[in-house]
Amino acid sequence: METVLSGIRSTGNLHLGNYFGALKNFVKMQHENKCFFFIADYHSLTTHPTPEDIRKNAKQILIEYVAAGLDPEVSTLYFQSDVPEVLELYLFLNMNAYVGELERCTTFKEKIRQQPDNVNAGLLTYPTLMAADILIHKADKVPVGKDQEQHLEMTRLFASRFNRLYKIDYFKEPQAYNFGKNLIKIPGLDGSLKMGKSEGNAIYLIDTPEVIRKKVMRAKTDAGPTSPHQEKSQEIQNLFAIMEHVSSVETLEFFEKTYADCSIRYGDMKKQLAEDIIAFCNPIRERILELSSQDKRIEQIIHTGAEKARESARKTIAEVREIIGFRNT
Ligand code: TYM
Repeated sequence: METVLSGIRSTGNLHLGNYFGALKNFVKMQHENKCFFFIADYHSLTTHPTPEDIRKNAKQILIEYVAAGLDPEVSTLYFQSDVPEVLELYLFLNMNAYVGELERCTTFKEKIRQQPDNVNAGLLTYPTLMAADILIHKADKVPVGKDQEQHLEMTRLFASRFNRLYKIDYFKEPQAYNFGKNLIKIPGLDGSLKMGKSEGNAIYLIDTPEVIRKKVMRAKTDAGPTSPHQEKSQEIQNLFAIMEHVSSVETLEFFEKTYADCSIRYGDMKKQLAEDIIAFCNPIRERILELSSQDKRIEQIIHTGAEKARESARKTIAEVREIIGFRNT
């Protein structure tokens, strides 16, 4: 049995990118593997949220994940901040992570652009905290979207560096995972390559049908194909890419065919796409609303998840302390 781990930052709601990039794969694996899913609330401190937001956001994400298919009876679902052992491992890994390699990380460079007035050390060492999240349970597979690929590469680097330093084959090298051939990147409907909460272009699973229709109808398009089998512009590729995940094969084929013979009407395509997204999101939104009134059940899930995750983390930390040369009290 393999160990599978995935996670999400605790800010914002769950969007289509999170679902199709990471959660869907995780959900598929949860019954056959030892699965951990956590909500990265320590990570959220890089943007300085208020205590009220921290409390509210993490719980909301947990509710959304359960509503979208994560089964707390079989997976260990927990808040990162309920497992402080991860911080000890983060410290150990930071001692062997080099500033130069952290500075070269694409997500760090992106953050410098997004928040130039708040380039804190937590942002720089984000990849070592993420490696600690993964290595604390010695995960084999990490279902993530394409944007996290480099972080996984760095996790493997830190794991193998630790093994080399202490001359021991202790940490495994975890792999980014997707059931298909490639990791997924869900694009934005604004023509950009990535749908994301920081990008401000996301369709959230909790969005109402009216909001979804509005967002999809506003999606950028071009003037339309003028010759058969014309290459698609980025905007149009994005519409098709999202359709691939939420619509039926027949629908997708119909619009591919009409694009190829230049008879496509983008207005019709957007209408269909909006309805297919709504059909996908509606049952999840209903479950979110239902779970939101079940405070006791949610508290129970958080409590049980914390206990299970800590048990696994304590074991790893005790072994790591021993390897490094510290006493275990
Ligand atoms: P986050 O919160 O940005 O996203 C959570 C998961 O959703 C995936 N994702 C996408 N996949 C495809 N297309 C998109 N447009 C898209 N947007 C988001 C992400 O790849 C991710 O799998 N650093 C992580 C959180 C984290 C983590 C971890 C994940 C912290 N420690 C350890 C796995 C293991 C993050 O910011 O994801």
